[in-house]
Amino acid sequence: MNKTETVTIYPAKNITGGVSLPGDKSISHRYAMLAGIAEGTTKLKNFSSAADCASTLGCMEALGCAVRRTGGEVEIDGAAGKLRAPAAVLDCGNSGSTMRMLSGMVAAQEFASEMTGDESLRKRPMKRIMDPLRQMGAEIEAKGEGDRPPLRIAGRRLKGMTYKMPLASAQVKSCVLFAGLFAEGETTVEETVATRDHTEQALRAFGVTVKREKGRATVAGGQRLKAIEAYVPGDISSATFFLCAAGIFAGSNVVFDSVLLNPTRAALLDVMTQMGMKLNFLKVEEQFGELIGTVQAQASGLKGATIKGGLTAALIDELPALAAIAPYTREGIEIRDAKELRVKESDRIAAVAENLRRMGATVEEFEDGLRVPGGQKLHGAEIETYGDHRIAMAFSVAALRAEGETKIVGSEAVAVSYPEFFETLERMVER
Ligand code: S3P
Repeated sequence: MNKTETVTIYPAKNITGGVSLPGDKSISHRYAMLAGIAEGTTKLKNFSSAADCASTLGCMEALGCAVRRTGGEVEIDGAAGKLRAPAAVLDCGNSGSTMRMLSGMVAAQEFASEMTGDESLRKRPMKRIMDPLRQMGAEIEAKGEGDRPPLRIAGRRLKGMTYKMPLASAQVKSCVLFAGLFAEGETTVEETVATRDHTEQALRAFGVTVKREKGRATVAGGQRLKAIEAYVPGDISSATFFLCAAGIFAGSNVVFDSVLLNPTRAALLDVMTQMGMKLNFLKVEEQFGELIGTVQAQASGLKGATIKGGLTAALIDELPALAAIAPYTREGIEIRDAKELRVKESDRIAAVAENLRRMGATVEEFEDGLRVPGGQKLHGAEIETYGDHRIAMAFSVAALRAEGETKIVGSEAVAVSYPEFFETLERMVER
């Protein structure tokens, strides 16, 4: 068990400066997994410093791929489609992406494997990937209660299929498409709500033909993947915390270099603009299908927002930060259709409501979301992170405008996605 650490956040006057972000977590996972089954050595720069992505690299190594890492530079020797039977249980740590996406690949190998994770991951639902994989012929069983991990996967020949996703999940889509790479015939995933498309882009980067029509992506099994050399764009979900911090101080000025601007991930930029933030886009370019650019953000007070339907799915990882700064907006923020937040690294609806109340805010909690009125004053408090990185960072931001000091108990959780978070925040804050 990790030691619980506490960081104290003091009120700030403003936030300014440049942020160099860790590589995007979603893209780092995908590049590392696809590198592992490609031919040749993949070389990645600005690979995410997140513990989650280290879990993916660890699993790929355990599956027979040599991994060499120096800071953000990672080289992965691909196994050319033939992964090796792992000697031990695959440890996915806190990472739902690692377990759900990689299970699609290992389900099609000629060996059995078992995947587990930390206490939080062992509480997360896996039926969503077990159902489609079983339909493709996989033998997969959850050893935890209900559909909870550990997962035991036998390794079988899979058959392609068309899968209509019953929920909006890029992890499920990726799992099925990864399984499809090894399956007989074609595999199609259909989605009614658009989710991030990094898997479709990454597959193409590695040389896979992906047929894309509105709401559908198809791959044929048996395609060869070729190693790539790529720079991983800065993580926009990590930028979110600084964007929200900038939003709550009039006169703030923050610049994000080389940040991911893929439209399926950048909904927060639209929402912040609608709430009154001024954003300037500089040097936007495309790399392997991913938009990347420099963004300057300035604020002078935020209006409110209502987030529901497809927008909720597009902003799923950004919602804790938005909800945490909602009391400082003029009209407040209402979030609906966000039931998925209850089965993330923590129950993020309950965690946000509890911590906002600890800081003295009024908040209304629904089964599928929250309503946080605007124009509220918060005071410092002891924040319970529930071991959830995004809760720790969201409330560190809310604490900047609270009266008095705030203690983030369980602050070590930030390492799951952004180990450098507190150092970066400290550098940018003016007191
Ligand atoms: C992710 C998809 C989302 C997101 C997670 C990363 C991805 O999960 O919350 O942090 O990289 O595909 P779901 O697929 O469960 O929506």
